[in-house]
This record gives sequence, structure tokens and C-alpha cells, in this order.
Amino acid sequence: MNITRIALAATLALALPLAAQAQQAKLKVGLMLPATGTFAALGTAIENGFRLYVTEQGGKLGGREIEFVKVDDESDPSKATDNVNKLVKRDNVDVIVGTVHSGVAMAMARVARETGTILIVPNAGAQAVTGPMCAPNIFRSSFSNWQPGYAAGEVVGKRGHKRVVTITWKYAAGDESVAGFKEGFAKATNGQGQVLKELSLPFPNVEFQALLTEIASLKPDAVYTFFAGGGAVKFVKDYAAAGLKKNIPLFGAGFLTDGTLEGQGADAEGLMTTLHYADGLDFPKDKAFRLAYAKTFKLQPDVYAVQGYDAAQILAIGLTATKGDVKDKAAFAAAVRKATIDSPRGKFTIGKNHDPVQDFYLRQVVGKENKPMGVAVKGLADPGRGCNM
Ligand code: BEZ
Repeated sequence: MNITRIALAATLALALPLAAQAQQAKLKVGLMLPATGTFAALGTAIENGFRLYVTEQGGKLGGREIEFVKVDDESDPSKATDNVNKLVKRDNVDVIVGTVHSGVAMAMARVARETGTILIVPNAGAQAVTGPMCAPNIFRSSFSNWQPGYAAGEVVGKRGHKRVVTITWKYAAGDESVAGFKEGFAKATNGQGQVLKELSLPFPNVEFQALLTEIASLKPDAVYTFFAGGGAVKFVKDYAAAGLKKNIPLFGAGFLTDGTLEGQGADAEGLMTTLHYADGLDFPKDKAFRLAYAKTFKLQPDVYAVQGYDAAQILAIGLTATKGDVKDKAAFAAAVRKATIDSPRGKFTIGKNHDPVQDFYLRQVVGKENKPMGVAVKGLADPGRGCNM
């Protein structure tokens, strides 16, 4: 062996273990979710779903063992930038997963765009995230606020309701859900449907009484609403207690009755909502998921658990394509864009703006379940307005 070959062999001997070591380095996933406040249960379900998928893969995605770093974002937009910066700059996470609240998610997307960190949004539907703020490193496993709203608008219009009142929290998710509803309603009624009044209250207030009195005096054919978590439990109970349920049909984006039925009891019975998930879908993937989830967490899963599970699936698809390298963002995005994701909700794809293209079900509450009544809108894609990618 000449000197050069000896030097080369020595370099390789040193480099190989280092490469192998690098391959095995744990992948840090920053989970930024609410653990307190009105959306706390939603955050827990997302984390459970995410962890379930990782456990099913033996604790590794794309060959990398997964390590979690957690932050409670409290669904508080004013703390969001500090919280996400802690994960990215102090804890040096490789990937961020979060969150539930649209206002918090927009701050996360801003930091993801600045730093290039991969962000997977497992709930928050803020239009901006897959609209003007869209980016090759930002993905959503859930929905845009427009999507379930639009599907509900079509349902309400097709059922012959002409005079509607909307009621929601005054923040991005509520406003965008109502805007989607109005678009679907206008389409289904050929522009003949009227929205009599758009009622709202600040997030996360639950003092609904004055607004319910106003609904009673307006006497609409139907009411459309976006509420979720603890607020949805209270709204459904108050709507029934005000005597409105028996006279004015209440429709909602499916968050109104998902993960909330234990708390709502009989007051939710018969309510109709639109969502990309339902209880008792006839997919083998859903049956296996529900069984595994119930066994692991001693709880029934909901839409949030599905979105967490699918956020982990999206991460796995990207990491498998890049052999665990989060820096190869082009290959990561290309793999996700061409994938068909086998979800408990049914198979779906990721659209050009990185929001799911998926079926929206009409569901009705029967006992403790949101039973599917059929597909309200098939393969619904968010319009991706303002996304240039
Ligand atoms: C949101 O803020 O985007 C949101 C929160 C709860 C359920 C659905 C959407």
C-alpha cells in the first residue's frame, strides 16, 4: 500500500463510523400543542395519534429514532413566536409539529419560513398557512378552515334552507369557516340564500346568552356555527337550553361535535355537521387505527387523533425519501406531493399548496357517535388563494 492509499484507508476508517453515527442520530420533533385551555383535549388527541404511528413503526421514521420536545402553546397567539423560537433556536428541533389554534399556527408558519424548518400542521386551518404563507417546507395533515365550511354551505343550501344566521368565535378560524360556508351556500342556492346576520364573540369566550336571544328574534331557517373543544360543548348545551334546538336546525363544521359528545350528551343528538372524518367509516385502515388507539389510550379516537396520526405519516413519507435527512427539503416535498396517504379518514393526497385534498362527510350525531350519512363533497381541495409555490 502506498502512502496515499494508507491515508485514504485511514480517512475512511474514521469517516465511516461517523457517517453511521450521523445516520443514527435521533430526530428531534418539536410538538407545539395546547395542553391547557379550551383546546387542551384536542392537543392530547393529536399527540396520541402522532405517537401511535411512531410506535407502530418501531419508534423510527426514515431510519431515525424519534425524540420529542414539547411546548404547551396555551392556544395563545401572543406567546406563539417565543414558544416556537424556543423549539427551533434553543432546543434545535429538526421538525416542528403544531398546532390547534389558527392564530398560533400563523406565527409558527412565519418562523418556519424564516428558518426553513419543516413544519407539519396537524389541525389549525388558517388559510394563510397554505395561502400567502405557503412554502415548500410547510405541510398540513388536517384541513383549511374554508373546506368544512364550504361543504356545510352546500349541504344547508341543498336542504332548502334560505335564511341563515352564522355564529362563531371572532378569529381567523371562525371568520374563514363562515366565509367558506357562505361560498358553498351561495353556490347551492344559486345566490338566492341569505345570511341574515353574522354573529360572533371573542375567542375563547362562552357567554352565548345574548347572541342566542338574537338568533331567536331573527327566526332563521337554520344556523351555521364553528366552535370546537370546550366552547363547542357549552354552545351545544346552551343552544338546547335556550329552546332553539327544536325549532331552528343547527349545522356546523364537524368540530362542533367531534371529541365533545361525552360532554354534550343528549343535547347533541341529531345534529348534522360536515368533516373529513366520521365514526364507523368502512375502511380497513380506520378499523385497525380505532382498535389500536382504544387499546393504547383507553379512549375512542376523534378527528384530532387522526390528524396527528397522519402528520406522522407525512413525516415518515418525507424522511423515507430522504433517508432521514431533513435538510433535503426538495426531495422531502416531492415525495409528500406525489404520495397517496392511507388515512383512517380514507385515502387522500396533498395538494399543490400542501393542504389535503379529501372527501368531506355529512355526519349526524347518534348516541355517542358522529355517524356518516354519505359524502357531502368529494375530493375537495382548498383553493389555495394567494399561494405562489
Ligand atoms: C383553528 O383555530 O384553526 C381550529 C381550532 C379548533 C378546531 C378547528 C380549527
